[in-house]
Amino acid sequence: MDATAVPSNAASNRVSQQKPTISASERCSKACSQGRSILGEQYVCKSFEFKDGERRIIRIGDDEIGVFRHEGEFFAYSNYCVHQGGPACEGLIIARVEERLRPDKTSMGLFFSEKDMSFACPWHGYEYDMRTGQHIADRRVRLRKYQVLQKGEDVYVVV
Ligand code: FES
Repeated sequence: MDATAVPSNAASNRVSQQKPTISASERCSKACSQGRSILGEQYVCKSFEFKDGERRIIRIGDDEIGVFRHEGEFFAYSNYCVHQGGPACEGLIIARVEERLRPDKTSMGLFFSEKDMSFACPWHGYEYDMRTGQHIADRRVRLRKYQVLQKGEDVYVVV
């Protein structure tokens, strides 16, 4: 969130009825998710195949992990929403909505952040911080986060 940022329920409400927006290409193929696994490092894909703003969903046994690329960095979270177990990483990826304040603390209105991104669970709109996996309205609530490694051109999630 920028300036004095206030999480917006409007953003959650806006996406609350959205169906998953994930495409078939974002869901890793069997070869991608099961092709190479090295001592807890789960292969995701080649970094050049993973463009900024994209995501991948990898399956490891019965678990799923959402991997995002944002401004050149990778972030990975459990794909199971803390609310009711929905596919937390498969909804909209949106700029954070923030309220900007004047010096006298009156509102200038709601704006989309120019740097902070969120992703929203498609079931009921729980909105998570792209960099931390925390719920934007209650920072105590968060998705399980996984470390992402790059080895040369290969991207791995540590499980
Ligand atoms: S299951 Fe994710 S918001 Fe309800």
